Amino acid sequence: MKHQKHLFSLPEDVTYINGAYMSPQLKSVADVGLESVIRKNNPTAISQADFFTHRTIVKQRFASLIDAPDEQNCAIIPSVSYGIATVAKNIELQKDDEILVIDEQFPSNIYAWREKANSTGAHMRVVTPPDSFENRGKRWNQKILDAINAATKVVTMGHIHWADGTLFDLITIRKKAHEVGAKLIIDGTQSVGALPFSVKEIQPDALIVGGYKWLLGPYSIGMAYYADTFNDGEPLEYNWINRKNSEDFSQLVNYQDEYQPKADRFSVGESSNFILVPMQIRAIEQLLDWGVQNIQEYCETISSEAIAQLQTKGCFIEDAQYRSKHLFGVYLPDHIKMDAVKDRFRESGISVGIRGEAIRVAPHVYNTAEDFEKFVACFY
Ligand SMILES: Cc1ncc(COP(=O)(O)O)c(C=O)c1O
Repeated sequence: MKHQKHLFSLPEDVTYINGAYMSPQLKSVADVGLESVIRKNNPTAISQADFFTHRTIVKQRFASLIDAPDEQNCAIIPSVSYGIATVAKNIELQKDDEILVIDEQFPSNIYAWREKANSTGAHMRVVTPPDSFENRGKRWNQKILDAINAATKVVTMGHIHWADGTLFDLITIRKKAHEVGAKLIIDGTQSVGALPFSVKEIQPDALIVGGYKWLLGPYSIGMAYYADTFNDGEPLEYNWINRKNSEDFSQLVNYQDEYQPKADRFSVGESSNFILVPMQIRAIEQLLDWGVQNIQEYCETISSEAIAQLQTKGCFIEDAQYRSKHLFGVYLPDHIKMDAVKDRFRESGISVGIRGEAIRVAPHVYNTAEDFEKFVACFY
């Protein structure tokens, strides 16, 4: 795969290696958004069928992206917190059950569980990273497996750590969770779209993904997958379109107790969103066109030389086997000072993230190996 800079509108003087913050916008997605805004100038251009068609298409595209057999297991959400709150509402916990989370994971996958723990007497169990860098990723994965026990009822985590890209072996974690009867809930916001994810292989109970990062979509839309065990679940709110026969606008006040099939009940109110949904469809179609595995490999190709050089300078970067290639952390050795490096980033127009102790680097197909040369030159 070659770089795809020309498909984005990034300013020339910015070296943006920060897709984990938010993706830059594809020109094609901006075009769809602008057309969608204008469309409402004439309300007759928006038909009753339009309330449904784009919802279905975005779910189909998302289902393809995550290798899920049925798009009816997918729902449209406004945020990760919304998708996680839906899951937490629909899991029964008892006193002393355990909810397993990873140290310093993103708060949208924490607060709902804290509430759940408070209201049920369940406990949050936090798996911290090893306290030294040697084999850190491998040992962190092992600590997670060791922490799953008969009391564990929920394992809720990312495919990678959002701050430094540590890769978690979800297939093995799934297996252990399955053995003890725990549910596996994944926040895929920092991975889905750039790192392959297969629902068929990993079999999560739920997968929640914000749209504006690696799905290359706009802000305030995301996608969720809920396994069949949630098919009779209770939504957070009660929107008319999620009810059976909502297609028949003449019968809407013939109030319905039944829902549309499967996960449709969990879509947010006004999920037909005539602006954001078409934009998200276009973005996922572009990802499918490129192929997620190709994106991951492209990121590896353009960054591998820089990673070797940084390691030679004494930086810690996780072993390739336990690190995603589209998002990774660089930990500095004592002789390179964070403030000085940050100043050089600013002077060189480089945008990366600083999360905790790590410099978070998050490339995509709009980056090149030259961007990484500029990046490495800031480390002294
Ligand atoms: C791992 C992860 N999950 C979720 C989010 C966003 O959550 P929300 O959509 O609730 O704002 C982020 C944003 O940085 C994130 O990194």
